[in-house]
Amino acid sequence: MKIAIGSDHAGFELKEKLIIYLKQKGIEVKDFGAYSEERADYPDFAHPVAKSVESKEVDFGILMCGTGNGINMAANKHKGIRAALCWKAEIAVLARQHNDANILTLPARCISPEEAEKCVDAFITIAFEGGRHTERVSKISNFTA
Ligand code: RB5
Repeated sequence: MKIAIGSDHAGFELKEKLIIYLKQKGIEVKDFGAYSEERADYPDFAHPVAKSVESKEVDFGILMCGTGNGINMAANKHKGIRAALCWKAEIAVLARQHNDANILTLPARCISPEEAEKCVDAFITIAFEGGRHTERVSKISNFTA
């Protein structure tokens, strides 16, 4: 499995911890930054991670900023992206089962590293259920205004 990861300065510390956690599991990680806690703009990391997921260069993406909101909003501008803001494992499970989410977004300033790891574990192991969710998910990006 290969994962693209990105954060702004507020998510940097958690990102570094999760990279270690993922690598210990034998997962290949492509790190799109930020590479320090120097102030940075979250869209600059959301878009490269989203493009990496959209192009299927990686299996999933993981993004984090302070609240998770800004970086999640930016990622969801991409047609092929379903980024889910998760703060507990149960939400990450349902994001995969019901929404076929392909990016896990975490609120770095509002979640413990332990809970973030549980979200990651759920996200990378749980499959999309399909069935009644398939058409709902297809309607996320296929609509007429
Ligand atoms: C940075 O201070 C903060 O605004 C950012 O990390 C994020 O929470 C925005 O949604």
